Amino acid sequence: MARFTGKSVIVTGAASGIGRASATLFAAEGASVIAADKASTVNDTVAAIAKSGGKAIALEMDAGNSADVKKLIDLAMKTNGKIDVIYANAGISGGTPNIFEQTEDQWKQILQVNLIGPMLAIQIGAPHMIKAGGGAIVCTASVAGLRNGAGSPAYSASKAGVISLVSLAANNLAGTGIRVNGICPGLIETGMTKQIFDRAREKGTDDRIGQLNAMRRAGRPEEIAKVALFLASDDASYVNGQVLPVDGGLSSSLPIIPPKPRG
Ligand SMILES: NC(=O)c1ccc[n+]([C@@H]2O[C@H](COP(=O)([O-])OP(=O)(O)OC[C@H]3O[C@@H](n4cnc5c(N)ncnc54)[C@H](O)[C@@H]3O)[C@@H](O)[C@H]2O)c1
Repeated sequence: MARFTGKSVIVTGAASGIGRASATLFAAEGASVIAADKASTVNDTVAAIAKSGGKAIALEMDAGNSADVKKLIDLAMKTNGKIDVIYANAGISGGTPNIFEQTEDQWKQILQVNLIGPMLAIQIGAPHMIKAGGGAIVCTASVAGLRNGAGSPAYSASKAGVISLVSLAANNLAGTGIRVNGICPGLIETGMTKQIFDRAREKGTDDRIGQLNAMRRAGRPEEIAKVALFLASDDASYVNGQVLPVDGGLSSSLPIIPPKPRG
């Protein structure tokens, strides 16, 4: 079923991981995709989409820079004449888990991309959607924004900010027909987490990855992309201002030793 036929969709962070999987699925469901990333491998995403018959163009840009975000929005308007969906997904991690060691520069860099980036996408993109009578914005937050323990202090704070941004933007845009929602992924195997998976495989402990969630495994980029498409689609026409954890159950429980399942 092609839910995005004729739709103009922007995906940031589309060179890798969740963004690449999302751009690919949006295009497979009929969208004309503007795939944006600071990495030139975003051109590979677009080439793969074109090879399978989809429509996409690439833009190399910095999602945390307002001039670049304007370029992205202008490109979508020039290419498709409208913007139906913005998936503000680009993000960076990094730095130490210790608040006394994470530098001010790291804080600024992470907040600029992870939090100010989605804010700029909304601030610069939403006016075009308002003129057209509506649309859908999806942001990638993280379980790290719900509680401590999954990334550096700046990363957690940036993602908590995205959760707040989603609810405030949904309400700032009340009556415009624009829905704003977010996703809190758990541990997903992507470029961002490659080191964790590589190290565990080297040590032979990869069977322990994801053991803290009730699904007992890590997630795949497509499992986040499918939720992004749901939130961006008319299937979610009454879902607004929400962030959905997609984490195998990780954030649903306090850290207890679960009872042995029967059966
Ligand atoms: N992988 C996980 O376990 C996980 C968990 C929770 C949340 N997330 C979030 O998911 C989103 C996607 O990350 P991923 O896991 O697919 O990682 P990834 O590293 O595979 O992909 C992130 C992409 O964003 C791009 N990017 C980084 N900074 C950018 C900038 N300034 N401008 C434009 N593009 C930029 C990178 O080049 C990369 O292609 C991020 O917001 C991340 O914080 C990931």
